[in-house]
Amino acid sequence: MKICCIGAGYVGGPTMAVIAFKCPEIEVVVVDIAAPRINAWNSEQLPIYEPGLDDVVKQCRGKNLFFSTDVEKHVAEADIVFVSVNTPTKTQGLGAGKAADLTYWESAARMIADVSKSDKIVVEKSTVPVKTAEAIERILTHNRKGINFNILSNPEFLAEGTAIADLFNPDRVLIGGRETPEGQKAIKTLKDVYAHWVSDDRILCTNLWSAELSKLAANAFLAQRISSVNAMSALCEATGADVSQVSHAIGTDSRIGPKFLNASVGFGGSCFQKDILNLVYICECNGLPEVANYWKQVIKVNDYQKTRFVNRIVSSMFNTVSGKKIAILGFAFKKDTGDTRETPAIDVCKGLLGDKAKLSIYDPQVTEEQITRDLSMKKFDWDHPAHLQPSSPVTNNKQVSVVWDAYEAIKDAHGICILTEWDEFKKLDYQKVYESMQKPAFVFDGRNVVDANKLREIGFIVYSIGKPLDSWLKDMPAVA
Ligand code: NAI
Repeated sequence: MKICCIGAGYVGGPTMAVIAFKCPEIEVVVVDIAAPRINAWNSEQLPIYEPGLDDVVKQCRGKNLFFSTDVEKHVAEADIVFVSVNTPTKTQGLGAGKAADLTYWESAARMIADVSKSDKIVVEKSTVPVKTAEAIERILTHNRKGINFNILSNPEFLAEGTAIADLFNPDRVLIGGRETPEGQKAIKTLKDVYAHWVSDDRILCTNLWSAELSKLAANAFLAQRISSVNAMSALCEATGADVSQVSHAIGTDSRIGPKFLNASVGFGGSCFQKDILNLVYICECNGLPEVANYWKQVIKVNDYQKTRFVNRIVSSMFNTVSGKKIAILGFAFKKDTGDTRETPAIDVCKGLLGDKAKLSIYDPQVTEEQITRDLSMKKFDWDHPAHLQPSSPVTNNKQVSVVWDAYEAIKDAHGICILTEWDEFKKLDYQKVYESMQKPAFVFDGRNVVDANKLREIGFIVYSIGKPLDSWLKDMPAVA
């Protein structure tokens, strides 16, 4: 059997590497139109940082795992074609700012139809709107007669930062297909691939629309938990409650559960916002405005949390950060990834730059080039290759510097903002840090990683999200 995956990104790369690792008799080729990305997959320096990924790739690459730009050849030869291309939010036209842009998906489907000479199972790996399979089926069957295409929906539930562990030991694998004999046969073929390492009870088979919708629903529920606890964090600050204690108290209720209850500066990543917006749009198109508004609120609370954080910084630093150096520790949207797509750091940095702060940014996995690009791009443009060039520069060289050492970022700063929960930020020598800073020295902990009381003993003024406020901060209330 030969598998081809279109799209060598955060999903296509790790997913296929694990399939190749677990199924040595299957040949797996990952293809992409982006030559630099394929070159990186074939090099020592993989294009994405993910714990454990290097080992898996190095064990299979050149044996039964290949990366190539020869998209058409490998699609033509494959029995199963996974499509794992980006499905960003539309930036223009009907549904702009909400609907999923299926341009990349559609062009992949047309190419599959054009080059295929044998029957194929086409698997939706990308997250797509409900009923996409129907549209894709039309494209595939319309363009080429006599070849059977069976569409399956097999959404991916891996989380960046733990992708390899998630793929090795998934909570579940979801496969949706047509309820026809051919559809069921296709489901069985894909199920047999996963059965190499996933037990039968963890492979869920559904109809196509349930599988497509389940992915959007799962992301909406996950993001909703973060917005729920973040909404509580604002109330904690106002009342003197401690959000960690509240989270623990509610999370021990087995009906609620302990995971995903950490208050923070907000969620980020390429999926949560885009998938909820997509869900909102689907609800609106189906005449369900109340349902749409319910989910829209999850995003509004997330935006509120980022704005609240910036306002707290500015108000506690005497209502102005103009010309003040602020160290930004962490830029990726979470730890153990270099991914900055929709990271809250972008909005926080832009907010501070709007108030004329000078930023010194350090993240162990994010390059200066990436940060500069992120701070220059318009919302939603990041996932559209045509717009990769900065279109609306909001920064200038004097306002932002990117450094490769936390202590260097902090030296002479008035304040520190922790925006990613990298473990190394817990272990900094905060006495040394304090001595190197301007006074009063502030720490704004957007991930609740530092021991605030210890830092206060050293002399810092500390803001931790959702925790009782220092008297300094109480006297300078943030306006959200
Ligand atoms: P990505 O942007 O990292 O990768 C997509 C790749 O597809 C790019 O390298 C692009 O060059 C390539 N591509 C686009 N059009 C192509 C074409 N016509 N032919 C060949 N290659 C093409 O995106 P990522 O993060 O891997 O996401 C892919 C899909 O998976 C999205 O729908 C996303 O919502 C979904 N997803 C993402 C997760 C994540 O954690 N990143 C988790 C679960 C699902």
